[in-house]
Amino acid sequence: DEIHKLRVSLLDWYDLNRRDLPWRTHHLQEQKATEEEEEEEFERRAYWVWVSEVMLQQTRVQTVITYYNRWMEKWPTIHHLAQASLEEVNEMWAGLGYYRRARFLLEGAKQIVAEGGKIPKVASMLRKIPGIGDYTSGAIASIAFKQVVPVVDGNVVRVIARLRAVSANPRNSVTFKRFWELAAQLVDPVRPGDFNQALMELGATVCTPLNPSCSSCPASEFCHALSMAKHDRAVAVTDY
Ligand code: ADE
Repeated sequence: DEIHKLRVSLLDWYDLNRRDLPWRTHHLQEQKATEEEEEEEFERRAYWVWVSEVMLQQTRVQTVITYYNRWMEKWPTIHHLAQASLEEVNEMWAGLGYYRRARFLLEGAKQIVAEGGKIPKVASMLRKIPGIGDYTSGAIASIAFKQVVPVVDGNVVRVIARLRAVSANPRNSVTFKRFWELAAQLVDPVRPGDFNQALMELGATVCTPLNPSCSSCPASEFCHALSMAKHDRAVAVTDY
């Protein structure tokens, strides 16, 4: 059906166009010797995704790469981070702004390590960690743990608004909730993390606020806003 075709199209596009970001490069090797090893790999990735997504919330990708690499050199695991002081964390964060984010990462790491050291897999459990809301919990659950949950940020709102021709203002909290519901219907059940990142990346690079590149968009044949624009143009032409 149409949603299936849209998923395939977006994932194919993502496979060809994904950026090689440091928190993405170490791919899960498909054959892990044991379930225990796979579990450890998931946990490592959850920490990478958590730190990178928190950094990405107010900061451009290019800037985040430098900070992320320095952070991971100093605190390669959540256990290392939990031993850090607030001063050290703030110093590492210097220049990124919104220092609450750094404090929440530290407090979150301490809480998780105090409770056994396992980052929760499920979005609702993740949201109990300081600083982790709907966005970050969805990102960690889907990207690191392959849970089938959506992620909605500003880019995703724009992509979905166009795909589904939603003109209501997403700043309205009821409408914003509607975007989460629409995203939940779209998310790919086999590759939720890649699908969510494909939507984000599509919004950042193709489905831009001004002058979107519809001719190179993998979702153009499913885009209601585009077909409405074409229809309006056709009507305008026949009106002459
Ligand atoms: N922006 C924030 N997080 C992102 C991600 N994981 N992929 C692409 N763009 C993003």
